[in-house]
Amino acid sequence: MNVLVIGKGGREQALVRALATSPQVGQIFVWPGRAGFEPQAICLQNQTLNKNTIRKWVKEKNIDLVVIGPEQELADGWSNFFRSLNVAVFGPSQEAAQLESSKLFAKRFMMAAGVPTSEFKEVDSVEKALTASAHFPFPIVLKADGLAAGKGVFICYSKAELKKAAELIFEKKKLGPAGEKAFLEDFQRGEELSLFVLTNGREYKLLPFARDYKKIKDSNQGPNTGGMGAFAPYIISSTLQKRIEEQVVRPSIKGIVDHKLFYHGLLYIGLMITNKTPIVLEYNIRFGDPEAQVLLPLLDGDWAEVFFSVARGELPNLIWKKNYFTACVVLAGEGYPSQPITGVPIEGNLGFESPHSYFLHAGTKKTDKGWLTDGGRVLNALGLGNTKEEAIRQAYEQAKRVYWPGMQMRSDIGVVESIRGFEESLF
Ligand code: GLY
Repeated sequence: MNVLVIGKGGREQALVRALATSPQVGQIFVWPGRAGFEPQAICLQNQTLNKNTIRKWVKEKNIDLVVIGPEQELADGWSNFFRSLNVAVFGPSQEAAQLESSKLFAKRFMMAAGVPTSEFKEVDSVEKALTASAHFPFPIVLKADGLAAGKGVFICYSKAELKKAAELIFEKKKLGPAGEKAFLEDFQRGEELSLFVLTNGREYKLLPFARDYKKIKDSNQGPNTGGMGAFAPYIISSTLQKRIEEQVVRPSIKGIVDHKLFYHGLLYIGLMITNKTPIVLEYNIRFGDPEAQVLLPLLDGDWAEVFFSVARGELPNLIWKKNYFTACVVLAGEGYPSQPITGVPIEGNLGFESPHSYFLHAGTKKTDKGWLTDGGRVLNALGLGNTKEEAIRQAYEQAKRVYWPGMQMRSDIGVVESIRGFEESLF
């Protein structure tokens, strides 16, 4: 089968890499992709594509399957478009994508479906935000409704901070249309956990848990990012897993059925484990980045078969490798996440690859003078091993193979305060 992957980050190169191992896959195309994804895929970054040209192109290239990586393209309805061309698509419909593209839609969905989440109050002005704050103790979370590339959540410790955040959203309009509406909700303290659920909209299969590191600096300091690293599997107690399945996953899938949402893809549920109870912070309608990078290599099977089968409404069995761990260390450019500096030459051996480690290109550019940085998150150093420690060691060994001025990376990927302590404090 010929496959089109949509996107251009580390997650999408991880998808390409996983698909390329399938004996069933002929040609992989990526739109737009980037030079670093070659030779595993043909990238279309230099082609001007629109719905008319794509219609022809899909026929010419015999595209059988489209895998959509980023949320924006799902929110924009590309899955509906490709389905209208009779191509199998791994990714939910535009209507279902509202679970991520509208946080208010998601909140109402959770309330209707009985999914545990914190109470909220919708607001659309500074004045309404300040009035509604009387219903919550500080700190309060102010969340923009729309997609804001990780910049739409404000944790406010005082009324003055809330006022400032509300002014940014509603008066200075820093988030554009994503900030037309927003809501206030309780701040939740606890352990964050990312849950990935493969679903055909009726049934589901859980993927292993992954741990993502969102803050730019060690010990979870500094501003939030898209993710500075991850490892998997993140092993939690079976009691907690059972509780999450019963209280979160089943009602979420039932909600999808009840709301008649067309969902052939992956649902990523952001959880906070607080007071022995899972609380849903958010839904995402796609693989996480960099969680995809650590989850995809864990399958003892063929991702092309899995994606194709889910795209057609089936749900395959998933078998996971035993005693196999993965880690990803994100190498970011100077200024990330606020204003990354790009165009910086990358030194070292980007092409180095072994059975235990490799790079994925998240924001690089190939020029006559060599590789340059071309985004906030530039490279992902991947490590694989039979223990978590070995995977992390391999990822850091790989990371050492490149350098550029201003490069940022966390040195504590894989450090969890105490998983045992975590479990014992919960049960
Ligand atoms: N790593 C977080 C995300 O993909 O949303």
